Amino acid sequence: MPRQSRKELQWWKKTTVYQVYPRSFKDSTGNGIGDIPGIISKLDYLQDLGIETIWVSPLFSSPQADHGYDVSNYRDIAPEYGTLSDCERLINEIHNREMYAVFDMVLNHTSDQHNWFLESRESRDNPKRDWYIWHDGQKPGGKKPPNNWNSMVGGSGWHYDELTDQWYWAQFLPFQPDLNYRNAEVKEEMFDTVRFWLDKGVDGFRLDIINTIYEDPALRDNPFAWTYLPSEEHTKSFFKDNIYTINHPDNFIFVKELRSVMNEFSDPERFLVGEVGAPLAILKQYCGDIVDETVTDGLHLIFQFQSLGAKLTAGRFRTLFQDYEQVFSEPYIPTWVFSNHDQKRRISRLNGNVEKAKLNTTLQLTTRGVPFIYYGEEIGMLQSKIPLKSAQDPVAQKLALLPRILTSLFQKIGDISLNRDECRTPMQWDSGPNAGFCQSETNPWLPIGPDYEEINVDIEESDPASLLNCYKELLKLRRKTPALHSGALRFSQLHNGQKSLLMYERIFSSDESEQIVEIWLNLSDKSIQVAQDLISCKLRFSTMKSTTPLRDDSLYLEPHQGIVLEIVD
Ligand code: GLC
Repeated sequence: MPRQSRKELQWWKKTTVYQVYPRSFKDSTGNGIGDIPGIISKLDYLQDLGIETIWVSPLFSSPQADHGYDVSNYRDIAPEYGTLSDCERLINEIHNREMYAVFDMVLNHTSDQHNWFLESRESRDNPKRDWYIWHDGQKPGGKKPPNNWNSMVGGSGWHYDELTDQWYWAQFLPFQPDLNYRNAEVKEEMFDTVRFWLDKGVDGFRLDIINTIYEDPALRDNPFAWTYLPSEEHTKSFFKDNIYTINHPDNFIFVKELRSVMNEFSDPERFLVGEVGAPLAILKQYCGDIVDETVTDGLHLIFQFQSLGAKLTAGRFRTLFQDYEQVFSEPYIPTWVFSNHDQKRRISRLNGNVEKAKLNTTLQLTTRGVPFIYYGEEIGMLQSKIPLKSAQDPVAQKLALLPRILTSLFQKIGDISLNRDECRTPMQWDSGPNAGFCQSETNPWLPIGPDYEEINVDIEESDPASLLNCYKELLKLRRKTPALHSGALRFSQLHNGQKSLLMYERIFSSDESEQIVEIWLNLSDKSIQVAQDLISCKLRFSTMKSTTPLRDDSLYLEPHQGIVLEIVD
């Protein structure tokens, strides 16, 4: 039996996070690109939805070659998104609505247009030279990269610069050179940048590819591995085991240093959530060690991407619960992510089935952990179909150069989307021109999803059985129910031998009382009946509005129905 939660958790452990991809959220200027005033105009919507924390993908100055993940000035805002004072207003407006603001921090690399890199590449003795990772090529001649290290997106991560006859290292795309954190000035500057935003009131950071901060200083070759396709669950790819470029042990020390910077700020406590694709045991290492009963000394949270492609079956989720509870037991806490700006939208993995999406949401918002919701997920926005050859996503542009037969094969094997544009289409606000994202005479930066007339906020707000209203109800229930936001999780492998029934409890005890909430999810396409003493049960939520799941001393669950019960005396 898990240790029961006896007190409410720190705010960031019980919060719910919504990711805004600024380019696609709401355009206020008529250029077809979302912006900060656009986000501000939709904060009431997010507050009404019941969201507690808003994470905004990068807003900083950037040539936008990777749509903001290529920063050219960390202390200013991209003009297409607004100004620094718009950004300050965004933070204040979020706070005014009693929500928290989380920014995206890209520490690993800058844009190649950042002044630091422009200076660094000028000459071997430029004061900024050592801010990046430069090496001679292999002898003789130096015209071969320094070693066999690949970038995360395939191909050598070393790029030759003729001017100084050396190679620079880029873990992601060539225009995103890695900063050199073995140089003390770099670390100091970036920690100060973090302080700069914390001073402005930012409540936390999402840390972009934080597992690639350090590489092996001896430049040892990565060994061979029988794995080609990258995955969120391991770090092998393109026939290499990337032991010298990903999850270097120095990263685990780095995150603790960063945590100390965060600890300089309090009221409220600030938090870090890291982006790392790796097995659970490694993810946990990024969260550091236990300092006292409730505190660890690394990243507060880390994304567990195991859920992204998990089949919606009771067996798969029982295993995930078990693994997460084992590795991330208190004071650690798991995260639950089903979609983001790099991944195929969850509902499209569920074949667009709204009832399954409601079940998935019920699971996400009632199990133990911090849920991350991606914009549009709450209305069931689908993955669009955008051919690689017309992609704006730089990774897709690179993949477009590969033979078609290979890219179709990748797509089939992995149930993945190779073009990240497909999950970044504009938010669908209403059935009007351009789905209410931008003015009718404007061309949105990506095409509006073809189904926007049926799938949009406006329509779903007025339908009590919509996915949007399912989110609203659950988010509100979660907020007011300590067992749901702060309780321990108890689950059994099977309930009465029912393989496709997922049942778990959340338990919260205080000195005066104990609250127990039961979650029942039918993950099959057959009805399920379970005998149950109904005297002590109160129905708090059901994914289906037209059924009566509690009757005749039994629970009746329709195919893909989920319910939440509270046990009362
Ligand atoms: C992360 C971001 C992704 C970006 C990459 C490089 O994976 O989520 O969008 O392209 O890092 O910064």
